[in-house]
Amino acid sequence: MIGRLNHVAIVVPDLVAAAATYADMLGARVSAPVDLPAHGVTTVFVELPNSKIELLHPLDEDSPIQSFLDRHPSGGIHHICYEVDDIYAARDQLRDQGARILGDGEPKPGAHDKPVLFLHPKDFDGTLIELEQV
Ligand code: CO
Repeated sequence: MIGRLNHVAIVVPDLVAAAATYADMLGARVSAPVDLPAHGVTTVFVELPNSKIELLHPLDEDSPIQSFLDRHPSGGIHHICYEVDDIYAARDQLRDQGARILGDGEPKPGAHDKPVLFLHPKDFDGTLIELEQV
């Protein structure tokens, strides 16, 4: 069902500092910060030869990742994203096997304007999984 690793998302307390760490210390190609109001985050994309890292910072205090940052003030890995060919087929197959889909279970446009879903971390070894249809 799942295909390529699309990205790993890391919540960071300081987006400028984190972007500089990836660009200057690790020598990666990083984007300018992009606000995604629909998701309540500002993100910097780190382009790797085989995948991406998304550095995430809350856009405001209502951001869905603010509580994560409150619990992990130094930042931390927030979710991993796998690609799927058909997000509805993937959702239905996972539901049939007892996995919980977060929210209302309907795919929403993600950071790349492709449909995404999130799966309950308790069903996947404590890891928040995002599925993205590519
Ligand atoms: Co993501």
